[in-house]
Amino acid sequence: MAVSSATFILFGATGDLAHRMIFPSLYNLMGDNLLPEDFLIVASGRSELDDAAFRKDIDRTLQEFLAEGLYDSARAAKFVGMIIYCAANVGDDDQFAALARRVEGREDKGFAIYLSTPPSLFAPTAQALQRAGLTGPDSRIAMEKPIGHDLPSSREVNEAMAAIFDEERIFRVDHYLGKETVQNLLALRFGNMLFEPLWNSGAIDHVQITVGETVGLEGRVSYYDGVGALKDMVQNHLLQLVAMVAMEPPARIDSTAVRDEKVKVLRSLRLMDEKSVLTHSVKGQYGPGAVNGQIVTGYADELGHASGTETFVALKVHIDNWRWKGVPFYIRTGKRLPSRQSEIMIQFKDVPHSIFATKGKGLEPNRLVIRLQPEENIRLLIMAKQPGLDREGVELREVGLNVSLDTAFAKTRRRIAYERLILDLLEGDPTLFVRADEIEAAWTWVDSIHQGWAASHMKAASYASGNWGPSSAIALIERDGASWHD
Ligand code: BG6
Repeated sequence: MAVSSATFILFGATGDLAHRMIFPSLYNLMGDNLLPEDFLIVASGRSELDDAAFRKDIDRTLQEFLAEGLYDSARAAKFVGMIIYCAANVGDDDQFAALARRVEGREDKGFAIYLSTPPSLFAPTAQALQRAGLTGPDSRIAMEKPIGHDLPSSREVNEAMAAIFDEERIFRVDHYLGKETVQNLLALRFGNMLFEPLWNSGAIDHVQITVGETVGLEGRVSYYDGVGALKDMVQNHLLQLVAMVAMEPPARIDSTAVRDEKVKVLRSLRLMDEKSVLTHSVKGQYGPGAVNGQIVTGYADELGHASGTETFVALKVHIDNWRWKGVPFYIRTGKRLPSRQSEIMIQFKDVPHSIFATKGKGLEPNRLVIRLQPEENIRLLIMAKQPGLDREGVELREVGLNVSLDTAFAKTRRRIAYERLILDLLEGDPTLFVRADEIEAAWTWVDSIHQGWAASHMKAASYASGNWGPSSAIALIERDGASWHD
Protein backbone atom coordinates (compact mmCIF):
# COMPACT_ATOMS: atom_id res chain seq x y z
CA MET A 1 0.00 0.00 0.00
CA ALA A 2 1.15 3.53 -0.80
CA VAL A 3 2.26 5.81 2.04
CA SER A 4 -0.59 7.43 3.98
CA SER A 5 -1.10 11.10 3.22
CA ALA A 6 -0.23 13.17 6.27
CA THR A 7 -1.93 16.34 4.99
CA PHE A 8 -5.63 16.52 4.25
CA ILE A 9 -6.61 19.63 2.29
CA LEU A 10 -10.35 20.15 2.28
CA PHE A 11 -12.11 22.58 -0.05
CA GLY A 12 -15.68 23.43 0.90
CA ALA A 13 -14.73 23.10 4.57
CA THR A 14 -17.47 25.46 5.73
CA GLY A 15 -20.16 23.47 3.89
CA ASP A 16 -22.80 21.07 5.13
CA LEU A 17 -21.16 17.82 4.02
CA ALA A 18 -17.87 18.78 5.64
CA HIS A 19 -19.62 19.47 8.93
CA ARG A 20 -21.96 16.50 8.97
CA MET A 21 -19.65 13.84 7.58
CA ILE A 22 -16.05 14.74 6.87
CA PHE A 23 -14.93 16.29 10.17
CA PRO A 24 -16.78 13.72 12.33
CA SER A 25 -15.19 10.94 10.23
CA LEU A 26 -11.70 12.35 10.63
CA TYR A 27 -12.29 12.70 14.37
CA ASN A 28 -13.37 9.07 14.60
CA LEU A 29 -10.34 7.92 12.61
CA MET A 30 -8.10 9.86 14.96
CA GLY A 31 -9.83 8.26 17.94
CA ASP A 32 -8.92 4.83 16.56
CA ASN A 33 -5.30 5.91 15.91
CA LEU A 34 -5.77 5.51 12.18
CA LEU A 35 -4.40 8.87 11.12
CA PRO A 36 -0.72 9.11 10.24
CA GLU A 37 1.77 10.79 12.59
CA ASP A 38 1.96 14.55 12.38
CA PHE A 39 -1.43 14.75 10.63
CA LEU A 40 -2.53 18.19 9.43
CA ILE A 41 -5.95 19.23 8.19
CA VAL A 42 -5.99 22.31 5.99
CA ALA A 43 -9.56 23.53 5.88
CA SER A 44 -10.37 25.87 3.08
CA GLY A 45 -13.47 27.87 2.25
CA ARG A 46 -14.33 31.11 0.57
CA SER A 47 -14.79 33.20 3.70
CA GLU A 48 -11.95 34.74 5.66
CA LEU A 49 -11.73 33.09 9.06
CA ASP A 50 -8.87 32.62 11.48
CA ASP A 51 -7.77 29.23 12.77
CA ALA A 52 -9.24 29.81 16.22
CA ALA A 53 -12.72 30.72 14.94
CA PHE A 54 -12.80 27.75 12.61
CA ARG A 55 -11.62 25.34 15.31
CA LYS A 56 -14.34 26.56 17.61
CA ASP A 57 -16.89 25.99 14.90
CA ILE A 58 -15.65 22.43 14.35
CA ASP A 59 -15.78 21.69 18.06
CA ARG A 60 -19.47 22.68 18.00
CA THR A 61 -19.97 20.60 14.88
CA LEU A 62 -18.54 17.51 16.55
CA GLN A 63 -20.87 17.92 19.50
CA GLU A 64 -23.79 18.19 17.14
CA PHE A 65 -23.05 15.49 14.59
CA LEU A 66 -21.03 12.77 16.30
CA ALA A 67 -22.97 9.64 17.18
CA GLU A 68 -24.03 9.45 20.80
CA GLY A 69 -21.23 8.85 23.27
CA LEU A 70 -18.40 9.60 20.85
CA TYR A 71 -17.72 13.24 21.76
CA ASP A 72 -14.92 13.65 24.25
CA SER A 73 -13.72 17.16 25.00
CA ALA A 74 -10.04 16.26 25.41
CA ARG A 75 -10.05 14.26 22.21
CA ALA A 76 -11.92 17.05 20.41
CA ALA A 77 -9.32 19.57 21.60
CA LYS A 78 -6.54 17.38 20.20
CA PHE A 79 -8.46 17.01 16.96
CA VAL A 80 -9.18 20.69 16.34
CA GLY A 81 -5.54 21.40 17.16
CA MET A 82 -4.67 19.58 13.92
CA ILE A 83 -6.74 22.00 11.84
CA ILE A 84 -5.61 25.19 10.19
CA TYR A 85 -7.87 27.38 8.08
CA CYS A 86 -6.92 29.03 4.79
CA ALA A 87 -9.39 30.96 2.66
CA ALA A 88 -9.05 30.15 -1.03
CA ASN A 89 -11.20 31.39 -3.86
CA VAL A 90 -10.76 30.06 -7.36
CA GLY A 91 -9.42 32.93 -9.44
CA ASP A 92 -7.23 34.21 -6.60
CA ASP A 93 -3.86 32.53 -7.09
CA ASP A 94 -2.31 34.50 -4.24
CA GLN A 95 -4.60 32.70 -1.80
CA PHE A 96 -3.55 29.33 -3.24
CA ALA A 97 0.09 30.38 -2.97
CA ALA A 98 -0.52 31.32 0.68
CA LEU A 99 -2.12 27.90 1.26
CA ALA A 100 0.92 26.25 -0.36
CA ARG A 101 3.21 28.13 2.02
CA ARG A 102 1.34 26.76 5.02
CA VAL A 103 2.05 23.18 3.90
CA GLU A 104 5.62 23.81 2.74
CA GLY A 105 7.98 20.93 3.48
CA ARG A 106 5.17 18.40 3.79
CA GLU A 107 5.02 17.32 0.09
CA ASP A 108 6.91 14.07 0.66
CA LYS A 109 4.40 12.96 3.26
CA GLY A 110 1.63 13.23 0.68
CA PHE A 111 -1.36 15.48 0.17
CA ALA A 112 -4.91 14.15 0.14
CA ILE A 113 -7.02 16.88 -1.44
CA TYR A 114 -10.80 16.66 -0.99
CA LEU A 115 -13.18 18.75 -3.10
CA SER A 116 -16.46 19.13 -1.30
CA THR A 117 -17.38 22.08 -3.51
CA PRO A 118 -19.89 22.69 -6.29
CA PRO A 119 -18.83 20.56 -9.28
CA SER A 120 -18.23 23.63 -11.44
CA LEU A 121 -15.21 24.30 -9.20
CA PHE A 122 -13.56 20.86 -9.53
CA ALA A 123 -11.41 21.57 -12.59
CA PRO A 124 -10.60 25.22 -11.74
CA THR A 125 -9.59 24.23 -8.18
CA ALA A 126 -7.35 21.43 -9.44
CA GLN A 127 -5.75 23.84 -11.92
CA ALA A 128 -5.17 26.46 -9.23
CA LEU A 129 -3.61 23.76 -7.02
CA GLN A 130 -1.35 22.77 -9.88
CA ARG A 131 -0.17 26.36 -10.32
CA ALA A 132 0.51 26.47 -6.60
CA GLY A 133 2.68 23.34 -6.91
CA LEU A 134 0.42 21.10 -4.83
CA THR A 135 -0.35 18.38 -7.36
CA GLY A 136 2.95 16.47 -7.42
CA PRO A 137 3.21 12.65 -7.52
CA ASP A 138 2.42 12.37 -3.81
CA SER A 139 -0.93 14.18 -4.13
CA ARG A 140 -4.29 12.49 -4.49
CA ILE A 141 -7.58 14.19 -5.17
CA ALA A 142 -11.10 13.20 -4.17
CA MET A 143 -14.34 14.76 -5.30
CA GLU A 144 -17.98 14.42 -4.53
CA LYS A 145 -20.68 13.66 -7.06
CA PRO A 146 -22.01 14.79 -9.44
CA ILE A 147 -19.26 14.43 -11.99
CA GLY A 148 -20.93 16.39 -14.78
CA HIS A 149 -24.61 16.42 -15.60
CA ASP A 150 -24.45 14.31 -18.76
CA LEU A 151 -21.85 12.39 -20.76
CA PRO A 152 -20.14 15.34 -22.48
CA SER A 153 -19.86 17.39 -19.27
CA SER A 154 -18.62 14.40 -17.25
CA ARG A 155 -15.95 13.81 -19.91
CA GLU A 156 -14.87 17.43 -19.60
CA VAL A 157 -14.39 17.05 -15.84
CA ASN A 158 -12.60 13.72 -16.26
CA GLU A 159 -10.30 15.10 -18.94
CA ALA A 160 -9.48 18.23 -16.96
CA MET A 161 -8.57 16.05 -13.96
CA ALA A 162 -6.64 13.57 -16.08
CA ALA A 163 -4.46 16.42 -17.35
CA ILE A 164 -3.21 16.89 -13.77
CA PHE A 165 -3.56 13.55 -11.97
CA ASP A 166 -3.32 10.00 -13.24
CA GLU A 167 -6.43 7.88 -12.76
CA GLU A 168 -5.06 5.96 -9.74
CA ARG A 169 -4.75 9.29 -7.92
CA ILE A 170 -8.34 10.42 -8.64
CA PHE A 171 -10.93 9.34 -6.07
CA ARG A 172 -14.53 9.93 -7.20
CA VAL A 173 -16.72 9.51 -4.14
CA ASP A 174 -19.99 7.60 -4.20
CA HIS A 175 -20.76 7.36 -0.50
CA TYR A 176 -22.90 4.24 -1.06
CA LEU A 177 -19.67 2.33 -1.72
CA GLY A 178 -18.50 3.29 1.75
CA LYS A 179 -21.55 1.73 3.38
CA GLU A 180 -20.74 -1.49 5.19
CA THR A 181 -23.74 -3.33 3.76
CA VAL A 182 -22.88 -2.43 0.20
CA GLN A 183 -19.45 -3.95 0.66
CA ASN A 184 -21.19 -6.85 2.29
CA LEU A 185 -22.65 -7.69 -1.10
CA LEU A 186 -19.15 -8.79 -2.11
CA ALA A 187 -18.89 -10.96 1.00
CA LEU A 188 -22.32 -12.46 0.47
CA ARG A 189 -21.82 -13.24 -3.21
CA PHE A 190 -18.18 -14.24 -3.28
CA GLY A 191 -17.53 -15.45 0.27
CA ASN A 192 -20.23 -18.12 0.18
CA MET A 193 -20.58 -21.14 -2.04
CA LEU A 194 -24.36 -21.10 -1.70
CA PHE A 195 -25.42 -18.22 -3.86
CA GLU A 196 -23.11 -17.83 -6.83
CA PRO A 197 -24.12 -21.03 -8.72
CA LEU A 198 -27.71 -19.74 -8.68
CA TRP A 199 -26.88 -16.10 -9.36
CA ASN A 200 -27.97 -15.98 -13.00
CA SER A 201 -30.92 -16.22 -15.37
CA GLY A 202 -31.15 -19.99 -14.79
CA ALA A 203 -32.49 -19.50 -11.26
CA ILE A 204 -33.36 -15.82 -10.87
CA ASP A 205 -36.64 -14.42 -12.14
CA HIS A 206 -35.95 -10.76 -11.47
CA VAL A 207 -34.16 -8.36 -9.14
CA GLN A 208 -35.60 -5.34 -7.33
CA ILE A 209 -33.65 -2.46 -5.87
CA THR A 210 -35.41 0.19 -3.80
CA VAL A 211 -33.86 3.25 -2.20
CA GLY A 212 -36.68 5.05 -0.45
CA GLU A 213 -36.35 8.33 1.42
CA THR A 214 -38.90 10.12 3.58
CA VAL A 215 -37.22 13.52 3.31
CA GLY A 216 -38.18 16.17 0.79
CA LEU A 217 -36.03 18.97 -0.57
CA GLU A 218 -34.47 19.90 2.78
CA GLY A 219 -33.28 23.31 1.67
CA ARG A 220 -31.49 21.92 -1.38
CA VAL A 221 -33.84 23.57 -3.86
CA SER A 222 -31.15 25.33 -5.85
CA TYR A 223 -29.24 22.10 -6.43
CA TYR A 224 -32.10 19.65 -6.83
CA ASP A 225 -34.55 21.39 -9.12
CA GLY A 226 -33.66 20.65 -12.73
CA VAL A 227 -31.51 17.69 -11.58
CA GLY A 228 -34.07 15.20 -10.30
CA ALA A 229 -33.97 11.65 -8.98
CA LEU A 230 -32.53 10.03 -12.11
CA LYS A 231 -29.36 12.13 -12.03
CA ASP A 232 -29.21 12.61 -8.24
CA MET A 233 -29.65 8.97 -7.21
CA VAL A 234 -29.84 6.53 -10.12
CA GLN A 235 -26.80 7.65 -12.12
CA ASN A 236 -24.59 6.96 -9.12
CA HIS A 237 -25.91 5.12 -6.06
CA LEU A 238 -28.49 2.83 -7.68
CA LEU A 239 -26.30 1.96 -10.65
CA GLN A 240 -23.46 1.12 -8.28
CA LEU A 241 -25.82 -1.25 -6.48
CA VAL A 242 -26.89 -2.76 -9.81
CA ALA A 243 -23.23 -3.23 -10.73
CA MET A 244 -22.38 -4.90 -7.39
CA VAL A 245 -25.31 -7.28 -7.71
CA ALA A 246 -24.78 -8.09 -11.39
CA MET A 247 -21.02 -8.15 -11.86
CA GLU A 248 -18.95 -11.24 -12.61
CA PRO A 249 -16.67 -12.43 -9.79
CA PRO A 250 -13.53 -10.29 -9.85
CA ALA A 251 -10.28 -12.22 -9.56
CA ARG A 252 -9.19 -10.22 -6.52
CA ILE A 253 -10.37 -7.35 -4.37
CA ASP A 254 -8.30 -4.66 -5.96
CA SER A 255 -9.15 -1.45 -7.69
CA THR A 256 -8.59 -2.75 -11.21
CA ALA A 257 -10.26 -6.14 -10.90
CA VAL A 258 -13.38 -4.89 -9.10
CA ARG A 259 -13.89 -1.83 -11.25
CA ASP A 260 -13.25 -3.75 -14.49
CA GLU A 261 -16.17 -6.04 -13.62
CA LYS A 262 -18.46 -3.19 -12.60
CA VAL A 263 -17.87 -1.22 -15.77
CA LYS A 264 -18.72 -4.27 -17.89
CA VAL A 265 -22.16 -4.33 -16.27
CA LEU A 266 -22.67 -0.59 -16.78
CA ARG A 267 -21.73 -0.95 -20.44
CA SER A 268 -24.23 -3.79 -20.83
CA LEU A 269 -27.23 -1.73 -19.72
CA ARG A 270 -29.73 -1.62 -22.55
CA LEU A 271 -30.15 1.98 -23.67
CA MET A 272 -33.64 3.43 -23.78
CA ASP A 273 -35.31 5.56 -26.41
CA GLU A 274 -38.46 7.54 -27.09
CA LYS A 275 -40.54 4.35 -27.24
CA SER A 276 -39.03 2.19 -24.54
CA VAL A 277 -39.16 4.93 -21.87
CA LEU A 278 -42.94 4.70 -22.09
CA THR A 279 -42.96 1.06 -21.00
CA HIS A 280 -39.71 0.94 -18.99
CA SER A 281 -39.72 4.12 -16.95
CA VAL A 282 -41.95 6.08 -14.62
CA LYS A 283 -41.22 9.49 -13.21
CA GLY A 284 -43.14 11.13 -10.43
CA GLN A 285 -43.21 14.25 -8.32
CA TYR A 286 -44.52 14.37 -4.77
CA GLY A 287 -47.59 16.39 -3.98
CA PRO A 288 -48.94 17.22 -0.51
CA GLY A 289 -49.58 14.29 1.80
CA ALA A 290 -48.43 12.74 5.06
CA VAL A 291 -45.18 10.99 5.91
CA ASN A 292 -44.78 9.24 9.26
CA GLY A 293 -47.95 10.91 10.48
CA GLN A 294 -46.75 14.42 9.58
CA ILE A 295 -48.60 16.55 7.06
CA VAL A 296 -46.15 17.77 4.41
CA THR A 297 -46.45 20.10 1.43
CA GLY A 298 -45.81 19.16 -2.17
CA TYR A 299 -42.62 19.72 -4.16
CA ALA A 300 -44.01 22.65 -6.16
CA ASP A 301 -45.14 24.37 -2.94
CA GLU A 302 -41.73 23.93 -1.37
CA LEU A 303 -40.19 25.30 -4.53
CA GLY A 304 -42.62 28.16 -4.89
CA HIS A 305 -43.49 27.40 -8.50
CA ALA A 306 -44.41 24.54 -10.81
CA SER A 307 -41.56 22.33 -12.02
CA GLY A 308 -41.10 19.30 -14.26
CA THR A 309 -38.33 17.81 -12.06
CA GLU A 310 -38.91 14.21 -10.96
CA THR A 311 -38.55 13.34 -7.29
CA PHE A 312 -39.30 9.66 -7.97
CA VAL A 313 -38.20 7.31 -10.67
CA ALA A 314 -38.89 3.63 -11.34
CA LEU A 315 -37.18 1.77 -14.15
CA LYS A 316 -37.20 -1.65 -15.71
CA VAL A 317 -33.58 -2.27 -16.56
CA HIS A 318 -32.14 -4.91 -18.88
CA ILE A 319 -28.56 -6.05 -18.68
CA ASP A 320 -27.67 -7.44 -22.07
CA ASN A 321 -25.18 -10.17 -21.30
CA TRP A 322 -25.21 -13.97 -20.88
CA ARG A 323 -25.72 -14.06 -17.15
CA TRP A 324 -28.73 -11.75 -17.06
CA LYS A 325 -30.50 -12.58 -20.31
CA GLY A 326 -34.23 -12.14 -19.70
CA VAL A 327 -33.85 -11.08 -16.03
CA PRO A 328 -35.27 -7.59 -15.49
CA PHE A 329 -33.88 -5.39 -12.73
CA TYR A 330 -36.66 -3.17 -11.39
CA ILE A 331 -35.20 -0.18 -9.61
CA ARG A 332 -36.91 2.73 -7.88
CA THR A 333 -36.00 5.63 -5.70
CA GLY A 334 -37.82 8.68 -4.49
CA LYS A 335 -38.31 11.33 -1.88
CA ARG A 336 -41.27 11.60 0.50
CA LEU A 337 -41.94 7.87 0.33
CA PRO A 338 -43.57 6.01 3.25
CA SER A 339 -40.28 4.89 4.83
CA ARG A 340 -36.54 5.30 4.66
CA GLN A 341 -35.71 1.93 3.34
CA SER A 342 -33.06 0.61 1.00
CA GLU A 343 -33.06 -2.97 -0.05
CA ILE A 344 -32.21 -5.43 -2.77
CA MET A 345 -34.57 -8.30 -3.42
CA ILE A 346 -33.59 -11.30 -5.51
CA GLN A 347 -36.68 -13.14 -6.69
CA PHE A 348 -35.88 -16.72 -7.62
CA LYS A 349 -37.83 -18.76 -10.16
CA ASP A 350 -40.43 -21.41 -9.46
CA VAL A 351 -39.08 -24.90 -8.87
CA PRO A 352 -38.97 -26.69 -12.25
CA HIS A 353 -41.59 -29.21 -11.22
CA SER A 354 -43.83 -29.09 -8.18
CA ILE A 355 -44.36 -32.40 -6.45
CA PHE A 356 -46.96 -30.60 -4.33
CA ALA A 357 -49.16 -29.55 -7.26
CA THR A 358 -51.73 -32.27 -6.77
CA LYS A 359 -51.29 -32.93 -3.09
CA GLY A 360 -50.43 -29.70 -1.36
CA LYS A 361 -50.56 -25.96 -1.53
CA GLY A 362 -48.74 -22.75 -0.78
CA LEU A 363 -45.60 -23.28 -2.84
CA GLU A 364 -43.89 -19.97 -3.60
CA PRO A 365 -40.53 -19.21 -5.22
CA ASN A 366 -37.65 -18.28 -2.90
CA ARG A 367 -36.62 -14.72 -2.23
CA LEU A 368 -33.44 -13.24 -0.87
CA VAL A 369 -33.90 -9.82 0.71
CA ILE A 370 -30.82 -7.78 1.52
CA ARG A 371 -31.74 -4.79 3.64
CA LEU A 372 -29.15 -2.04 3.47
CA GLN A 373 -30.77 0.62 5.67
CA PRO A 374 -32.01 1.63 8.14
CA GLU A 375 -31.24 -1.76 9.66
CA GLU A 376 -28.84 -4.24 8.08
CA ASN A 377 -30.09 -7.72 7.59
CA ILE A 378 -30.31 -10.56 5.12
CA ARG A 379 -33.39 -12.72 4.87
CA LEU A 380 -33.69 -15.82 2.77
CA LEU A 381 -37.33 -16.79 2.39
CA ILE A 382 -37.65 -20.53 1.99
CA MET A 383 -40.49 -23.01 1.89
CA ALA A 384 -41.26 -25.10 4.96
CA LYS A 385 -44.03 -27.54 5.75
CA GLN A 386 -46.75 -26.28 8.02
CA PRO A 387 -46.79 -28.66 11.04
CA GLY A 388 -49.71 -31.10 10.90
CA LEU A 389 -50.89 -34.46 9.69
CA ASP A 390 -51.20 -33.38 6.06
CA ARG A 391 -54.46 -35.23 5.51
CA GLU A 392 -55.47 -32.57 2.97
CA GLY A 393 -52.04 -32.51 1.40
CA VAL A 394 -48.82 -30.78 2.38
CA GLU A 395 -49.34 -27.18 3.32
CA LEU A 396 -46.28 -25.09 2.62
CA ARG A 397 -45.43 -21.76 4.13
CA GLU A 398 -42.70 -19.20 3.54
CA VAL A 399 -40.35 -18.86 6.51
CA GLY A 400 -37.34 -16.62 6.82
CA LEU A 401 -33.75 -17.57 7.50
CA ASN A 402 -32.85 -14.27 9.06
CA VAL A 403 -29.40 -12.89 9.63
CA SER A 404 -29.36 -9.60 11.45
CA LEU A 405 -25.96 -8.07 10.90
CA ASP A 406 -26.78 -5.46 13.56
CA THR A 407 -27.15 -8.25 16.11
CA ALA A 408 -24.36 -10.50 14.84
CA PHE A 409 -21.91 -7.61 15.04
CA ALA A 410 -23.55 -5.81 17.94
CA LYS A 411 -20.24 -5.11 19.66
CA THR A 412 -18.66 -3.55 16.59
CA ARG A 413 -19.17 0.16 16.04
CA ARG A 414 -20.95 0.83 12.74
CA ARG A 415 -18.86 3.40 10.98
CA ILE A 416 -20.22 6.12 8.77
CA ALA A 417 -19.45 5.53 5.10
CA TYR A 418 -17.07 8.49 4.97
CA GLU A 419 -14.72 7.03 7.58
CA ARG A 420 -13.91 4.13 5.32
CA LEU A 421 -13.67 6.28 2.21
CA ILE A 422 -11.43 8.92 3.80
CA LEU A 423 -9.13 6.24 5.20
CA ASP A 424 -8.87 4.61 1.77
CA LEU A 425 -8.13 8.01 0.24
CA LEU A 426 -5.39 8.68 2.79
CA GLU A 427 -3.92 5.23 2.15
CA GLY A 428 -4.27 5.47 -1.62
CA ASP A 429 -6.66 2.59 -2.28
CA PRO A 430 -9.21 3.55 -4.96
CA THR A 431 -11.16 0.24 -5.01
CA LEU A 432 -14.26 1.80 -3.44
CA PHE A 433 -14.17 4.88 -5.64
CA VAL A 434 -15.67 5.27 -9.07
CA ARG A 435 -13.41 5.13 -12.11
CA ALA A 436 -13.79 7.55 -15.04
CA ASP A 437 -15.05 4.83 -17.40
CA GLU A 438 -17.75 3.79 -14.91
CA ILE A 439 -18.98 7.38 -14.66
CA GLU A 440 -19.09 7.69 -18.42
CA ALA A 441 -20.87 4.37 -18.97
CA ALA A 442 -23.47 5.36 -16.36
CA TRP A 443 -24.06 8.73 -18.00
CA THR A 444 -24.41 7.12 -21.45
CA TRP A 445 -27.34 5.10 -20.13
CA VAL A 446 -28.89 7.90 -18.07
CA ASP A 447 -28.64 10.27 -21.05
CA SER A 448 -30.57 7.79 -23.19
CA ILE A 449 -33.42 7.94 -20.68
CA HIS A 450 -33.38 11.71 -20.49
CA GLN A 451 -33.38 11.96 -24.26
CA GLY A 452 -36.25 9.44 -24.41
CA TRP A 453 -38.21 11.49 -21.88
CA ALA A 454 -37.65 14.69 -23.84
CA ALA A 455 -38.55 13.13 -27.20
CA SER A 456 -41.72 11.53 -25.86
CA HIS A 457 -42.65 14.63 -23.80
CA MET A 458 -43.03 12.41 -20.77
CA LYS A 459 -44.20 14.31 -17.69
CA ALA A 460 -43.68 13.51 -14.01
CA ALA A 461 -46.90 12.03 -12.60
CA SER A 462 -47.94 13.41 -9.25
CA TYR A 463 -48.01 11.16 -6.15
CA ALA A 464 -49.22 12.03 -2.71
CA SER A 465 -46.35 12.24 -0.23
CA GLY A 466 -46.26 9.10 1.87
CA ASN A 467 -46.94 6.76 -1.09
CA TRP A 468 -44.59 4.57 -3.07
CA GLY A 469 -44.64 6.86 -6.11
CA PRO A 470 -47.37 7.21 -8.72
CA SER A 471 -49.64 4.28 -9.53
CA SER A 472 -47.87 3.83 -12.88
CA ALA A 473 -44.85 2.60 -10.87
CA ILE A 474 -46.97 -0.28 -9.62
CA ALA A 475 -48.20 -0.97 -13.14
CA LEU A 476 -44.58 -1.01 -14.41
CA ILE A 477 -43.85 -4.20 -12.49
CA GLU A 478 -47.32 -5.71 -12.28
CA ARG A 479 -47.56 -5.83 -16.08
CA ASP A 480 -44.86 -8.50 -15.84
CA GLY A 481 -46.74 -10.49 -13.21
CA ALA A 482 -44.54 -9.36 -10.29
CA SER A 483 -45.04 -6.83 -7.52
CA TRP A 484 -42.83 -4.50 -5.51
CA HIS A 485 -41.55 -5.83 -2.22
CA ASP A 486 -42.72 -3.06 0.14
C1 BG6 B 1 -27.16 11.95 -1.99
C2 BG6 B 1 -28.29 12.62 -2.73
O1 BG6 B 1 -26.15 11.58 -2.88
O2 BG6 B 1 -27.66 10.78 -1.33
C3 BG6 B 1 -29.42 12.98 -1.79
O3 BG6 B 1 -27.80 13.80 -3.37
C4 BG6 B 1 -29.85 11.75 -0.99
O4 BG6 B 1 -30.52 13.53 -2.49
C5 BG6 B 1 -28.66 11.05 -0.36
O5 BG6 B 1 -30.75 12.19 0.01
C6 BG6 B 1 -29.08 9.71 0.26
O6 BG6 B 1 -28.01 9.16 0.98
P1 BG6 B 1 -28.27 8.16 2.22
O7 BG6 B 1 -26.90 7.74 2.64
O8 BG6 B 1 -28.99 8.96 3.25
O9 BG6 B 1 -29.11 7.04 1.67
